Amino acid sequence: MDFESLSADLRSLQARALEEISAAVDPGALDALQIQYLGKKGDLTAVLRGIGALPADDRPRVGAIANEVGEAVKGALATRGTELRSQVQTIRLAAEKVDVTLPGRPVARGALHPIPETIEAIAEVFGQFGFVIHEGPEVEDDLTNFQMLNIAPDHPARDLWDTLYVDIPGYLLRTHTSPGQIRVMQSTRPPIRALLPGRCFRYEAVDASHGSEFFQVEGLMVDEGTSMADLKGLLDEFAHALFGPRKTRFRPGYYPFTEPSVAFDVECVVCGGVGCPACSKSGWMTILGAGMVHPVVLQYGGIDPERYQGFAFGMGVERIANLRHAVPDLRYYLENDLRFLEQFR
Ligand code: DAH
Repeated sequence: MDFESLSADLRSLQARALEEISAAVDPGALDALQIQYLGKKGDLTAVLRGIGALPADDRPRVGAIANEVGEAVKGALATRGTELRSQVQTIRLAAEKVDVTLPGRPVARGALHPIPETIEAIAEVFGQFGFVIHEGPEVEDDLTNFQMLNIAPDHPARDLWDTLYVDIPGYLLRTHTSPGQIRVMQSTRPPIRALLPGRCFRYEAVDASHGSEFFQVEGLMVDEGTSMADLKGLLDEFAHALFGPRKTRFRPGYYPFTEPSVAFDVECVVCGGVGCPACSKSGWMTILGAGMVHPVVLQYGGIDPERYQGFAFGMGVERIANLRHAVPDLRYYLENDLRFLEQFR
């Protein structure tokens, strides 16, 4: 091996490398060429192995040429690398081009179902009077659903045909939200202002105004000196907030857990009191039951009836929602028919 042939090898290696580098079409090919020419086991190293066989004088001259070749190959790799990367970028930018003038895709918006929407509207009114939402269990025990609400064992509400029992002895699906009153009284101290929305269940022959699954909102206030006048004022505010400035009235009613008990009526929201089929020609619509909490119920709640008084009320949410949205049949609420639900957007 002599100087001439070694330096000729180096130059031809350089020429070959530069040609291949400029022909490389992607960054991966460049990486491979870098290893092939400049790597530890690469072509340049292989040529340089011959240096040892040269006379000592020639070695630095070959070394200088080898450095030049190495630099030239490195430089070519870098230049081509930049070129390829910008090409890749150009292609990608073209592929990812966004036409900002295209109209957007509409986002399908959901909406609250009319039942929770109505519960929210009810809660908003009572919330302004300090009523706080509580929740009770849907699977309730017999004691809380009936006995502690002063509903005697022979009361018709306890008939097998009204109540849905579960397989656990002593438990049932709550027939109303009223047992929540007991739970609130047992777990908090007066003054109490609680609102209890929730799902209730009864064994019903289902029709336009009866469901075996329905919603109620219960209210309970307990404090010193709470009176029927407070109840009447509060319910008037509620009726006016939901149905506008209409006449209201209390009628005597009966519930085992309140004494006295009342039905609360609002002037018919359809005919304004003249009398129409919606109000059975009476001019009035009953929207809830209410009364002063029975002393026995206060006692079951752990509250001294000598010191505290309370009132309670309970309403069917479907009935209120029907009136708000002119829905004629409560079966619509649970059918999940989009033709119905989409009207509440
Ligand atoms: N729980 C009664 C029902 O399901 C509604 C009711 C009436 C609740 C009077 C009350 C009340 O709190 O005072 O029919």
